[in-house]
Amino acid sequence: MSYLIRVLAICLAVRLSSVDAWEHGAGPAPNNGAARQFIVFDPTVAGNPAVAQAVPLDRTGWTATADSSQSGNAASSVLDGDTGTIWHTAYDPTVAQLPHNIVIDMKAAKWINGVTIMPRQDGNNGNIGQHTIEVSQDGTNWGSPVATGTYLNDKSLKTTIFGNRLARYVRITARTEAQSDANQWTSAAEINILAGPDPILPPGQWSGTIDFPIVPAAAAVVPRTGKVLAWSAWAATQFGGSPGGYTLTATYDPATGVVSQRRVSNTAHDMFCPGISMDFNGRPVVTGGNDAAKTSIYDPIADTWTSGSNMKISRGYQSSTTLSDGRIFTIGGSWSGGNGGKNGEVYNPSSNTWTLLRSATVANMLTKDRGGVYRADNHAWLFGWKNGFVFQAGPSINMNWYGTSGSGSVKLSGPRASDVDAMNGNAVMYDAVAGKILTMGGGQHYQAAPGIPNTHVITINNPNASATVTKVANMAYARAFGNAVVLPDGKVFVSGGQGWAEPFTDNTAVYYPELWDPATQTWTVMAPNAVPRTYHSIGLLLNDATVLIGGGGLCGNCPTNHFDAEIWSPPYLFNADGSRATRPRITAVTPTTSGNAEVAVGGTLTVRTDSAVSKFSLVRMGSATHTVNTDHRRVPLTGTRTTTNQYSVKLPTDAGVLLPGYWMLFVMNDRGTPSLGFTVKVKL
Ligand SMILES: *[C@@H]1O[C@H](CO)[C@@H](O)[C@H](O)[C@H]1NC(C)=O
Repeated sequence: MSYLIRVLAICLAVRLSSVDAWEHGAGPAPNNGAARQFIVFDPTVAGNPAVAQAVPLDRTGWTATADSSQSGNAASSVLDGDTGTIWHTAYDPTVAQLPHNIVIDMKAAKWINGVTIMPRQDGNNGNIGQHTIEVSQDGTNWGSPVATGTYLNDKSLKTTIFGNRLARYVRITARTEAQSDANQWTSAAEINILAGPDPILPPGQWSGTIDFPIVPAAAAVVPRTGKVLAWSAWAATQFGGSPGGYTLTATYDPATGVVSQRRVSNTAHDMFCPGISMDFNGRPVVTGGNDAAKTSIYDPIADTWTSGSNMKISRGYQSSTTLSDGRIFTIGGSWSGGNGGKNGEVYNPSSNTWTLLRSATVANMLTKDRGGVYRADNHAWLFGWKNGFVFQAGPSINMNWYGTSGSGSVKLSGPRASDVDAMNGNAVMYDAVAGKILTMGGGQHYQAAPGIPNTHVITINNPNASATVTKVANMAYARAFGNAVVLPDGKVFVSGGQGWAEPFTDNTAVYYPELWDPATQTWTVMAPNAVPRTYHSIGLLLNDATVLIGGGGLCGNCPTNHFDAEIWSPPYLFNADGSRATRPRITAVTPTTSGNAEVAVGGTLTVRTDSAVSKFSLVRMGSATHTVNTDHRRVPLTGTRTTTNQYSVKLPTDAGVLLPGYWMLFVMNDRGTPSLGFTVKVKL
């Protein structure tokens, strides 16, 4: 075995140096941004499958067939685990002439990288001499041999290692008998096939660059169309020196690749650094920022902007979240409209009114930022939850429950375990049914502070009850100003950010994104993107289960303005060999209203597909600015097959878990490949 491992290690070394190798844990590196694929084998990583799987495969159910065999010496003898029984080619009454072959059928394609042949142990004739070994996925097409040559004539185990192949069939052809060219016999006692390393899926693939006419510092996924509505400020390149009163926007259509632009002035609102929340009708409700009291509402169906009433408290860098009853809660935001006292207030979209919640006090959620309250009440990690409550998971180390009935309330949940204040980190509700939130990164101060690699899982249940916090493995890269989204399968993707939090520079930009797996609770480094995505960058899950990241900068004549975006295709969109996976397709969803899928909280969806699927989830359409994406969350669902390619899918019954509004419904097949998102409107 140790010999085998040594041989494998050599194979790995050769492989790493001969491919476009991407090394786990390597520091940020420049790259050309071209779409590349990576197959990663890293023997230094503990538990690397390349070493762990250097063993013979389980042969249960396999068959062996030979072009010739003597009665009593069937081909199947090589699979019976008994070295006393052998396959032997026919010699009586007639001797079958060389070459001879034996085909092992593993009954399913497997990654393999070697074969062992145990010769007969009685020292008699028929040992294989010159030989060829081939592999095939279908038993018909064999390609070029994986090994050729001559074995030593003795009874020792013969081991042939070859490059990792995905195959179902292995064919061994004997061209000579090892003892004498005159002999025509072939025999073998046992044949085993060695498990190759399961290639780690390509760590995603990046698109080319999508150029925007502005620095996209804020954005939202537009319901139904799946377009990305982005904006900067009053100017394309800067937010400062604002004349106020209008915003430059740009809309990217993933279906056509077209980026269109529009100056929005009818709401007289410079929407730089706002709070954003999508209401029950999928309307991004944009509050404060440069014009700190304003509310602007985008109607995705009519494609129009309208003004809402002004907030009671002017704000910039506040966060907001939609509540289980359809109102929108906001808190914090001393960046504009004056310092401190930015207690909670709620917006009622039906009555277009804001109401102060005097007892929902902001003091409870302040960080200890050296910049004072101007920074300490920024970018809260808010999650609308049951009974109109809001869970504030950070960035302060203390987490709180905010109640929104009457004049509001606040109750300490407790500290985020051993974490520190994590300003400009991220928090993602990756499983709303189980109340699971993943938090990561940030910095103890808004700027001039080291980024943090800390990662925690928070579990919430009933409002006002203390949350459970579990420290899990850190990210490979410390980062503040990153962006995080949950994928349909529940994995969490974080990209961009900086190792040292400092607005308006790309120094210490992290080019390597990471993907967190809830099953293992660990991060895996993914393929690097092309452009630094630091302060003022965005990240959104798109309708096709890819992730758009963009922006960064918005600082006038600075060198860090990034007028562009890139799209990451996660590993689940690829086969192990790097080719595109076939995606399952949703062909119909009911119930519908006026032809569009609409369902009430607690209702049941009937989902028709073009192929068998096994997993279902809803992901709420997101919005993003300044690391905050409170609209986004994932609800895993259970589907019951009712007939071929038709499933009955029950939805959660609590509007605090399944916040009404626009969601993307995904189905996934056994391989974990998701469909395109099917737009579903959830109603109260
Ligand atoms: C939650 O806690 C706050 C603060 O103690 C309290 O005012 C409020 O009544 C509680 N609400 C519920 C539903 O327990």
